Amino acid sequence: MEQLTIALAKGRTAKQTISLLEKADIAFHDFHPDSRKLVFHNQENTVKLVFVKAVDVCTYVETGAADIGIVGKDNILEANPDIYELADLKFGKCKFCVAGLHGQTPLDKAEHLTVASKYPYVAEQYFKDKNIPITTIKLNGSVELAPLIGMADVIVDIVETGNTIRENGLQILADMDHISTRLVVNKASFATKTASIQKIIDQIKNGLECTV
Ligand code: PRP
Repeated sequence: MEQLTIALAKGRTAKQTISLLEKADIAFHDFHPDSRKLVFHNQENTVKLVFVKAVDVCTYVETGAADIGIVGKDNILEANPDIYELADLKFGKCKFCVAGLHGQTPLDKAEHLTVASKYPYVAEQYFKDKNIPITTIKLNGSVELAPLIGMADVIVDIVETGNTIRENGLQILADMDHISTRLVVNKASFATKTASIQKIIDQIKNGLECTV
């Protein structure tokens, strides 16, 4: 059987993804969450797992370096890649929000906003739809700091528990898209390795049913 490469996002959802793959009978016996190893093979050697940064998963899949990717919808929306999104794995749930300081002018009254975000494309699309002109500032983390120090009026970021927003004295000004972990597939791979990819997707969907 041909080998498939799956790119998996390092970080907060990695353990859940590995455990879902195990339930789907795709097990990586040498995997350990604290390991620095980046490539793993299942026992049958039919699946190669590569661990990459979440923001890079779509690039691996779009270029064909990986046949399949498992990644948050936030990264898919930001990368806007030419790939298939074939399953919602229903974990890693959070949402995109606009947040700012208490007392920030309501968004529908804003004439122009400076928006800090790890997701500038998502922010631009959102405010374009609302006809609010913005200047975006791309940050790579600690985004909640931007309104506190006067760098930006608002942020566009993911909110899971809401703790980071609360502990930094910000408030949610608008809810945006709901996010969860998705399975994505390279278009050419899906055309040439249809049966193997479909088999893995079916196995993962069965694994999901065991989880809920
Ligand atoms: C993410 C996100 C928020 C936080 C939201 O940051 O950018 O800052 O998590 O989670 P919460 O609602 O549960 O507090 P991450 O932890 O990835 O760190 P970063 O600031 O380095 O991007």
